[in-house]
Parts: sequence; C-alpha cells; structure tokens
Amino acid sequence: MLKNKTIVLGITGGIAAYKAVDLASKLTQAGARVEVVMTEAATNFVTPLTLRNITHRQVVTDMFESNSEWSEEHIALAEAAAAVIIAPATANTIARLATGIADNMLGTVVLATKSPVIIAPAMNDVMYANTVTQKNIAKLKSRGFTFIEPEHGRLASGKMGKGRLPDTATIIKAIEKALGQKQDLTGKRIVVTAGGTREPIDPVRHIGNRSSGKMGYALAEAARDRGAKVTLVSANVTLEEPSGIEIIKVKTAAEMKRSVSGAVKKADALIMAAAVADYQPEAMAKAKIKKGKQDMTLKLVKTPDILGEVKGKFLRVGFAAESENIISNAKKKLTEKKLDLIVANDITKSDSGFDADTNRVVIIDKKGKAEKLPLLSKREAAERILDMVKGLIN
Ligand code: PMT
Repeated sequence: MLKNKTIVLGITGGIAAYKAVDLASKLTQAGARVEVVMTEAATNFVTPLTLRNITHRQVVTDMFESNSEWSEEHIALAEAAAAVIIAPATANTIARLATGIADNMLGTVVLATKSPVIIAPAMNDVMYANTVTQKNIAKLKSRGFTFIEPEHGRLASGKMGKGRLPDTATIIKAIEKALGQKQDLTGKRIVVTAGGTREPIDPVRHIGNRSSGKMGYALAEAARDRGAKVTLVSANVTLEEPSGIEIIKVKTAAEMKRSVSGAVKKADALIMAAAVADYQPEAMAKAKIKKGKQDMTLKLVKTPDILGEVKGKFLRVGFAAESENIISNAKKKLTEKKLDLIVANDITKSDSGFDADTNRVVIIDKKGKAEKLPLLSKREAAERILDMVKGLIN
C-alpha cells in the first residue's frame, strides 16, 4: 500500500524526534517516497543529514531554502502528498496547526494539503492533558485530522505518564488505514440532519430534547471523508463545525423542514439523525409568560413530519430512538414514513443514544432485514450505516 506513495513526514522539536528516524527508514523500506519536513526546533534533536541519508531525499527545514526542489513551489509538496504524518507532534505545533498558522514549511503543507493528515503527539503528560492542548486536538479532529494516541510509559522527565510516541508499527498502521480510506461516495450528495429542535413557548422557554448532534455530525463527517458532498442541517448543537461540509443552522422543526426541503433537491440521500419535536406550542407568546396563581395548560399541535412530507427522489433514512420494543417500534416508523432504511437506536443504556460518544443500533431495511451492530463509536456506526446507504444509492 505504501509503494510509490509520497508520504510527507513532519518532525517537530521533541525528544521523540529520534524515533522519527526509524519511521522514515521503515517507510522508505516499504517503498514510500518519504519527504521529510523538519521544524527548526526538530533540527536540535536530530540532524537533517541523518534523515537525508535514510530517505535519499532532500530534507526541508526552511520555506526559503534554495537547494530544495520544493522550495520554489512549496504548495506542490502539499499536492504531491498521499498522506502527511507528523511524528512526533509537539503541543506547540498542534496549537499552531489548530489556528492555521503557516509561517514554516510544515504549517504551510498541512494548510495546503487535501490529503489525510495524521498526527502523533508526544510530549510531557501534563502538557498533553492540559485543556488547551486537548481543545486544540478536538478542533483538529473536527477538521478531519487523525490522531494517534500517545502511550503511557517513562517520559523524558523520568516520570511515568501518557505522552510517549507509539512504536513505528502502530504509526505505519495508522498511515495505511488513512491511505485505504474508501472514496465510495464520490459524486454523491447527502443531506444529514443533527441535533434536537426547540419549539418556543415564549421568548425564554422552549420544548426541547437531549440530542447533542454527535450521531448526525459523525455521519456527515464520515460521508465527507468518503467523498460525498454533504449538507448538514444542524439544530441547536454546540459541537465544533466540521470543515468541508455545508452547514445550515436551524432551531425549530418548521425551520428544519424548510432547510431540508431546499437541500434535498439534488440529493441522493437524506439521513435524519435529528431528534425532531413531535409537538410544538400552538402559538409562541410574544412576551414572557408570568407565573399565575392557577396551574397552566399549554396547547400543543403537531409539527410537520419532515421525513414523511419532504418530496423528492432520494433515499430516505430515518432514526428511531427507542426504549422498549426497539425493533418493532422502529419497523412501524419505517413503514409509516415510507423509508428505505431505519436505524433503531437503543437508548436504555448510558453508553448509547443521546449525548453518548458510542452507540448501539440496529439497521433495518424495507424488507424488514435487521443488522444488529455491536457497541461502536458513533463514527464507526456512521461508517456501517453509510455502507448500507451506498449499496442502496447504487
Ligand atoms: O444527537 P445525539 O446526542 O448523538 O443522539 C443521537 C440520537 C439519539 C438523537 C439519534 O441517534 C436518533 O435516534 N434520532 C432520532 C430520534 C427519534 O426518536 O426520532 P423519532 O422517532 O421521533 O422520529 C423518527 C424519524 O423521523 C427520525 O429520523 C426523525 O428525524 C424523523 N422525524 C421526526 C419527527 C418529525 N416531525 N419529523 C421527522 O422527520
């Protein structure tokens, strides 16, 4: 898989930089064309000469170097890369990448590449655990970057902690995985809904639900990574906005219906992971409702059924969050809403459903065939749902 592939190996200034020599060597032995880009700090830990001898290629340390074939057109290196791996990545480099700083060659390549970027952080355990570093990592993950978790063990300080660069084999496996990313949804247009709608009672109160948007965002990101053009209709979500996806923000079920109706016009599939309110107050009070002496009755009317009412020739995929009779309740919704697929979501356990990072789902098709998936991350569940969607679109 690595044969004849251009792999940009970014090395930054941490003690684990010496391990990047072994990585460069193994990648070269596997037939990859390894283009090493070192930050200035990295050259204090390992010399460009060592890496040049290992890779048989010029090593880039400076954007304005005259002896590098990439110096004239540094964007070309970003374009040539099948993947960019940064190992080790310091907290400083991660922070710079998270803000899009491109004042050295590595930052420029990462900003300019459309290929997968894999980051292997290695640093002091306290620096790694610091909220700032974790926020930067989360930001980069939401932009589609892959992170290889550092390992627990003896650190440069002599202390034990989480911050060690994983071994070369683990890093190579992650590169191979990124290179093998399926592009099987290229040319397809997919509309995904995420989050929970809020139906206003008055200017300060609403009827809402606990949806975080994680399932819908995972679907949108997975579809994007597989080559689809994705529109994400997002209701009341606080997640970081993913790049490369058109995002339409809505609040209510009525707004979601309007946005979905527009977005599905050229779509191949609509996947509704959003938890849409079934009822809304008959009317929103213009001023804040004051507390009175009597109990209060709120008249609720039905919201539009988006999946059932939006017109068009696209694949319809619904979700059903269920706490009992999961399969039969989901099948009922599949039939009533004339869906192609329904994803029955078990919400009886804390590691599944609303706001969890993992999910337990059963994918059911029109013929009633059900595929029960094990406990998976929402991203893995999204990939499995898209496998089914892909089969049906074609
Ligand atoms: O956002 P997370 O925290 O990650 O949680 C994910 C989730 C639990 C919200 C998600 O996996 C999920 O199950 N979403 C569907 C919630 C639900 O129970 O929907 P429903 O049974 O009310 O509706 C069935 C389907 O019709 C859904 O696809 C829904 O989007 C759609 N619907 C519902 C009402 C309505 N007025 N219009 C609709 O189109």
